[in-house]
Amino acid sequence: MEKELLRDAFLEFSRASESLIAYYSLLEKTVEALKREIEQKNRELESTKEDLRTILDSLPVAVIVMEEDRVLFSNNRAREMRFEPILERINLDGKKEGETKISASSYRWKRESLSGRKNQEIVVIEDTTEVEKMRERLEMDQRLKAMGEMALRIAHEIKNPLGSMELFASMLLKDTLEEKQKSYVEHISEGIRNIDRIVNNLLSYTKPKSLCLRKVRLSDVIREILDFMRLSFEQSGIELTFREREKGPKSVDPHLMKLAVMNLLMNAKEALDQGGKIEIEVKEEGKFTVLVVADNGRGMTEEVKKSIFNPFFTTKEKGVGLGLFTVYNIVKAHGGFIEVESKVNEGTRFTIFLPTG
Ligand SMILES: Nc1ncnc2c1ncn2[C@@H]1O[C@H](COP(=O)(O)OP(=O)(O)OP(=O)(O)O)[C@@H](O)[C@H]1O
Ligand SMILES: [Mg+2]
Repeated sequence: MEKELLRDAFLEFSRASESLIAYYSLLEKTVEALKREIEQKNRELESTKEDLRTILDSLPVAVIVMEEDRVLFSNNRAREMRFEPILERINLDGKKEGETKISASSYRWKRESLSGRKNQEIVVIEDTTEVEKMRERLEMDQRLKAMGEMALRIAHEIKNPLGSMELFASMLLKDTLEEKQKSYVEHISEGIRNIDRIVNNLLSYTKPKSLCLRKVRLSDVIREILDFMRLSFEQSGIELTFREREKGPKSVDPHLMKLAVMNLLMNAKEALDQGGKIEIEVKEEGKFTVLVVADNGRGMTEEVKKSIFNPFFTTKEKGVGLGLFTVYNIVKAHGGFIEVESKVNEGTRFTIFLPTG
């Protein structure tokens, strides 16, 4: 009896263990399948992460993820932008979005808390320097166009009475006058000639009617000016350097370009004391031929800088204030634009961009 019981129990046990083994191997298979599935999901996650990174890195805006003061993530554009000083500004400013300027660069930014993550926020920064520059250029174009038109109208109005004044003055001179009176009349004539010169300059350079385009190397044009100005610069103790990396000739009006560069050089000279330096450079940048005239002279304040291209704006006792207005009009007539950077007591840099076309 006992034997039978033992055998039954044994049989029961071996049946149970067999089904346990079967279950176990089924479980093993399921675990294996689950492991494979997890690995697959991990790979998918990794590649999604990779895709996300590629997308973030190819964005034209800076993306930074912050946890309090710590940067958790930054994309390519953020690193190129050297975002740290911008972030400092943003952090000082308690707002959610805004604009900021760091030296000559402008930025627009926005920040947002990351949902579901405590203390984490995403900051997006866009470099708006070029847009800002274009906006300023457009404003300047509109303002100078209006001013130019007004100056032209006034110049035309002045021209006629000026002609009669000159005629009458010369008639007076022919009469028998005392020496003293003669010298008065000569002073009047001299004054009239001066005004006439200014008016003529204004008329011819505010709107150069037609450009006399020639295929020339800009550097040859500059060399010609330098040949004839060098002596006067040397005598003033000014060091002049000229660098050129020009690929080929350009379509420009050599006479007008000469006038523009001469005006810039005269201004640079007048801003320098003994021992100053002037650098001239011609180079090519993308679609533009770039001409730089830089000096290490007295520079100008932001306030002065805003007005320098206006007709008749001058800070000089004997200045007329038409030099830069002329330069601006010549550059405009060539389809280009001009930029200026300046710091008081450090110097000034004028950069002319001419389409190479
Ligand atoms: N290189 C420079 N450095 C410092 N200030 C400058 C420079 N170039 C121009 N400026 C400022 O811009 C003003 C306008 O220059 P612009 O050449 O139009 O007139 P101007 O030199 O005063 O007179 P002019 O008609 O005789 O040239 C100057 O009076 C000066 O204040
Ligand atoms: Mg001048």
